[in-house]
Amino acid sequence: MSDAATAAWKAIESVESKTLKELFAANPERVARLSGRIEWGSDETAGGILFDWSKTHIEDGLLDGFEALAEAMDFTGAREKLLTGAKINVTEGRAAEHTAQRGTGAEASVEEAQALLARMKMLVDAIHDGALGDVKHLIHVGIGGSALGPKLAIDALTRDLAKVDVHVVSNIDGVALEQAFEACDPATTLVAVASKTFTTIETMTNAQSALAWLADNGVSDPSGRVIALTANPEAAVEFGVDETRILPFMESVGGRYSLWSSIGFPVALGAGWDEFEAMLAGAQVVDRHFAEAEGRANLPLRAAFADQYYTRVRRCQTRAVFAYDERLGLFPDYLQQLEMESNGKRVKADGSPVDGPTAPITWGGVGTDAQHAVFQLLHQGTNLVPVDFIASIAPGDMLDPAHHRILLTNCFAQGAALMAGGNMAADGKDPARAFPGDRPSATMLCDDLDAATLGALIAFHEHRTFANAVLMGINPFDQFGVELGKKMAKDIEAGGGEFDASTKALLEAAGL
Ligand code: F6P
Repeated sequence: MSDAATAAWKAIESVESKTLKELFAANPERVARLSGRIEWGSDETAGGILFDWSKTHIEDGLLDGFEALAEAMDFTGAREKLLTGAKINVTEGRAAEHTAQRGTGAEASVEEAQALLARMKMLVDAIHDGALGDVKHLIHVGIGGSALGPKLAIDALTRDLAKVDVHVVSNIDGVALEQAFEACDPATTLVAVASKTFTTIETMTNAQSALAWLADNGVSDPSGRVIALTANPEAAVEFGVDETRILPFMESVGGRYSLWSSIGFPVALGAGWDEFEAMLAGAQVVDRHFAEAEGRANLPLRAAFADQYYTRVRRCQTRAVFAYDERLGLFPDYLQQLEMESNGKRVKADGSPVDGPTAPITWGGVGTDAQHAVFQLLHQGTNLVPVDFIASIAPGDMLDPAHHRILLTNCFAQGAALMAGGNMAADGKDPARAFPGDRPSATMLCDDLDAATLGALIAFHEHRTFANAVLMGINPFDQFGVELGKKMAKDIEAGGGEFDASTKALLEAAGL
């Protein structure tokens, strides 16, 4: 660690820790100082998200320290590299150009991304117009970043009305694919094969089985029903997909950042092009904020300051996110890959060991369900868990407004209770009924949960993840940690490999 970074961490660690109650009492301006809005559009298209970080322990002394740390870690330089298409993914020697998909990046990359998206739009429009016959269903096979984003967006945006009924299948467990088959009519089904590398065993096996299902059910040209979404178009051609139905994307767009590329095809087909475009536009607004706002005023960076504080100073091993919105039920799954695959590292970008804990375990669920399941631990358990709440002011339902009112009041009450603590016993003395309080939370309050908001929320978390990585000196864009297990599985498939006694016994018990 550089001397400047060491000094910044010393300053951060020397800030006297105060309780949330003390922090609120000391500064009447606290809510305003630690809340910020990112907003877009006007009149009918107007929207925004309020990011309230006031119920975290972040305060001026800590923010000074973290701003010094950001300077010592050259956050400004790293951000510049990210947003101009420099080779920020040093271990793989390439850029990380997901923002180019949304219009921010190296000019040539932005142009290439726009051309590829225009091509995708043409295919989406053609399918909607009947060029591939009557299309009612899409089975999208992909895994990790090639599935989690589309799955989240489809679940969030197509509940009322789907132009095409989309089934995202990721697991190699045939149960998943069989379930999709059950729901689809082969005569009106397309198959999207989504894989950046077009080599991932789960996806390629699922793709073959989907083709076999089409053939077995009277589809005369199964390959003609396949759309390939990939950064390896040659492999898609080899697989038998006609070039007119291959939607390539740039190698420099990482798997878990690829929703914005042709991997978003099922979103455009299912929710409509306008919705997909609105999602990109929402993300672009956050890109601009991230590019322009400095220091603590930069909301993803400010969130990363709090994340670093809880992980490295308070040694919290997990962070939880609860969406008080049924439509964001898959958001924690999406975040898990984004945060844990990006920042779950033990060496820095230069190969030296990290200086402390890296990404905490991201977990979560939906409110209010989670209140009746896991919140006990948040309120009274021995682990300190920083919590994020996400909610929408506008309801997603048309039922009695009581539903949404109760949803929101519960969301806000949980944050308040985590912070306040107290004792539920009449005499205030029963230890079993005591709540310690002083437990941190942040709230993201959306005006509405539409496509632009979803795009903005995802982009916010991409930049928050990047900012965390910069503060820790790690490269968030590689994922070598997933390789060893894959290799061992391949060894077993090939009938080779050297294994421990336990694994050998398991293989034998399963007849493998
Ligand atoms: O195994 C991890 C991973 O490489 C992810 O990073 C990626 O999103 C996923 O596998 C799928 O890879 P692909 O899109 O190449 O099939």
